[in-house]
Amino acid sequence: MDLKIKYQGRAAPFSRGDTVLEALERSGVPVSSSCRAGACQSCLMRATEGVVPAAAQAGLKESLKKTGHFLSCICRPDQNISCEPAHSAPFQGPVHIQEIRPIGPDVVLVQLSRPAALEFIPGQFVTLKRYDGVARSYSIASQATQDDTIEIHVRLVPQGQLSSWFHTQAQPGDELWLEGPKGDCTYYPGQPDEPLILVGTGTGIAPLYAIALDACLQGHTGPISIYHGALSEERLYLVDELSTLIKSYPNVNYVRCVRNGPATSPVRVGELKDIVMAELADPKHKRVYLCGDPGLVRILKKHIFLAGVSMNRLHADPFVGTGS
Ligand SMILES: Cc1cc2nc3c(=O)[nH]c(=O)nc-3n(C[C@H](O)[C@H](O)[C@H](O)COP(=O)(O)OP(=O)(O)OC[C@H]3O[C@@H](n4cnc5c(N)ncnc54)[C@H](O)[C@@H]3O)c2cc1C
Ligand code: FES
Repeated sequence: MDLKIKYQGRAAPFSRGDTVLEALERSGVPVSSSCRAGACQSCLMRATEGVVPAAAQAGLKESLKKTGHFLSCICRPDQNISCEPAHSAPFQGPVHIQEIRPIGPDVVLVQLSRPAALEFIPGQFVTLKRYDGVARSYSIASQATQDDTIEIHVRLVPQGQLSSWFHTQAQPGDELWLEGPKGDCTYYPGQPDEPLILVGTGTGIAPLYAIALDACLQGHTGPISIYHGALSEERLYLVDELSTLIKSYPNVNYVRCVRNGPATSPVRVGELKDIVMAELADPKHKRVYLCGDPGLVRILKKHIFLAGVSMNRLHADPFVGTGS
């Protein structure tokens, strides 16, 4: 039997095994997407008729699941469904590049205009769409108290469509379409003495620095341990800002980890996972934040969960790419 998806009243045929996103795109229906791997929620939809497989709701909040929301890039239905866009992003609109400058060997800081209606909590991410429709997600690296602008850190992915554009072509004044904020990898007050562990690789440090600073500014008194991993010492960045943070807040500890290089103190050499796990004593009462390389985030999440940290204390944003 042929299956059909109805999207805003328009029918699109699909074969078993197709995702809703693929079937709609093949029928010429424009749908927002970014990671195409269930991580960024750009393709969130709501089923108005029919039931979507539970796997299509992985990682969504209970309130969204109950109201029939699902991620169309990982939804492979086995029955006819009708659906509509979720309109979940609290803000959608144009923003302009104010400044772009290098802050690491392969990282640029992009400062964007901040519309008054764009409220966010440090650590959340936004989806940015270029004039030609290419859309990718980036974590907000700046604090919400910074009124007129937001900042993101973009790592150069060789041949990457949007990251290489930011690195080589984008100019102040260029316009992007912003949707967001999204995600709940953020600091929440209420347990000011709880130990916080923040672990990231590459630009994963952008949201982690924002979360740690937010915690400090909100008066967090418990220990805050930040682990930043890179292949080599030259590829670590934000070192001055993090060094200033530990001087201003004695409860903050900053550990630099590299995979290759001489073991010159204070940089640790080894696998980030092993370094973190070796220091994770009495993990049950700790809150953990993981950002950056999807493979490392997945492995660490599993190990930290098995070590006794409950899922509601484990917050993760894997920086999943398009896989294209
Ligand atoms: C929630 C979330 C938050 C994110 N936050 C940030 C952030 O703060 N800073 C940041 O720099 N990136 C971040 N990313 C990643 C970002 O969205 C893009 O995937 C990245 O910039 C690459 O996009 P591109 O268009 O340049 O590459 P694409 O054109 O999408 O990809 C080109 C090729 O590179 C591969 N590829 C894509 N991404 C990567 C990668 N990260 N590493 C290695 N190979 C890759 C693809 O599989 C493809 O073969 C985040 C992703 C998510 C889901
Ligand atoms: S979650 Fe579907 S495109 Fe990212």
